[in-house]
Amino acid sequence: MWRGNCKAGPVHRLVEHASRYLRWPAICVALCFTSTCGDEIGRQPAGWDDELRMPLAADLDPDPHVLEVELVAQEADLQLRPGPPTHLFTYSGSLPGPMLRLRQGDRLLVHFRNELSEPTSIHWHGVRLDNPMDGAPPHTQTPVMPGETFDYDFVVPDAGTFWYHPHVRSAAQVGFGMYGALIVDPPTGPESAELLGDELVVVLSDISLDDDNRLVEPDSGGELATLFGREGEPVLANGKQRAWLLATRGLRQRWRMINASRSRYFQLDLGGQPFTQIGGDAGLLSKPVETAAPVIVPGGRADLVVEPAGTAHDSLPMQWVPFDRGFGSTEFRVPVTLFSVSLSETEASEPLPLSPVAVPVELLSAEGATPVDLELTQRTALDGSLELGINGVPFDESAPIPASVGETQLWTVTNRMAFSHPFHLHGFFFQPLDEDGVSVGEWRDTVDVPRDDGKLRFLVRYDNRPGMWMFHCHILDHADAGMMGMVDLRQ
Ligand code: C2O
Ligand code: CU
Repeated sequence: MWRGNCKAGPVHRLVEHASRYLRWPAICVALCFTSTCGDEIGRQPAGWDDELRMPLAADLDPDPHVLEVELVAQEADLQLRPGPPTHLFTYSGSLPGPMLRLRQGDRLLVHFRNELSEPTSIHWHGVRLDNPMDGAPPHTQTPVMPGETFDYDFVVPDAGTFWYHPHVRSAAQVGFGMYGALIVDPPTGPESAELLGDELVVVLSDISLDDDNRLVEPDSGGELATLFGREGEPVLANGKQRAWLLATRGLRQRWRMINASRSRYFQLDLGGQPFTQIGGDAGLLSKPVETAAPVIVPGGRADLVVEPAGTAHDSLPMQWVPFDRGFGSTEFRVPVTLFSVSLSETEASEPLPLSPVAVPVELLSAEGATPVDLELTQRTALDGSLELGINGVPFDESAPIPASVGETQLWTVTNRMAFSHPFHLHGFFFQPLDEDGVSVGEWRDTVDVPRDDGKLRFLVRYDNRPGMWMFHCHILDHADAGMMGMVDLRQ
């Protein structure tokens, strides 16, 4: 925001900082007029994302097409909010875990070590990898026991926004802090910041803490809490509560958002300003969509472009707003500020037209597709306990869905419960259909199935990666309570 040659730089910085808190822009404006400095139009302010940018994992391999990293599942004490630090589960001691970033077609090699006192694994959410690398015990590998190691080694075939998390006791472990971003750029490198805006990756999450900042037991609240799905406080963006982001007014920014919370849906609001969604689960969309209040379900991703507008030195709250996913999700609940966007003195001139270049989606056809019908259900077990399931039975009693390589299936998932469920399939993208049964032309891996008999219909075509592939509700409390199943894909 201040140029290197600005004599008033440090003072300006201080005053600007103070004015953000005091909401007292006058001093800063006065100072700007009396000094030689000014905002640089066409760029974000210096240090615009310092509070939110996540560090990248160190690459141990000099080959530009191999990202070789070490990840350690370990406990760590981190400061999440005022008061004592919190003893968390982490990847390599940070929250979120280190960000992994490579290019489409590159190889990712992860030396994973489990230093927790319980078994775990890493699942690479959304990545079309070979079955033994999917990190979903007991089907694709045995759990990584305390003190053990496992090497994940695969090629990333698609550009897009992905993430990683454990697949053992996942509601508890994700809820305790285990997740990280995995970004895959196109082969030519990151898309132009000039066209799409300066980019920030934002991992959204929440963590249940008690008054002493200690983790709350993962089964707190009993079956009612399981039925609802446990949402925690504080709500975090890149592991921080209410951090600052600086923005040049009217200048495009690109936010790649990942919902890594165990149960919370994120409906977003930036003072009513419009977002353009340019990407989703599987990279850039073939057609960008305007949206005022994007909703990102647990496990889902959204690549959003925004041009923060407003009065100089004002700040805009980027908020979580309640989304109706069933009883208790909106009643008596108020918005929560995720981070604040502090607006610059100067304003950008007309930006270049937004032109994301996406590969057009080849539309799958329902003709000849094998129908697969599923219902998301709940029941009371013989001992009176709550069991969630699919087609009336919990995961441990379910039979896998048979599929063969090359086959196309038409799934109809009907939600028989009074709570919505974000449905996730491992290993394959699918194409949701609209009400007329026509593909919406987007590849997805995690999609909301609305409550009270809501339906999700999609087409999936299986390529040559046989194995046991899981699908489940990404409200991880629901998955752990039995709302999971498997596709048994054979040659
Ligand atoms: Cu993101 Cu089976 O999970
Ligand atoms: Cu669910």
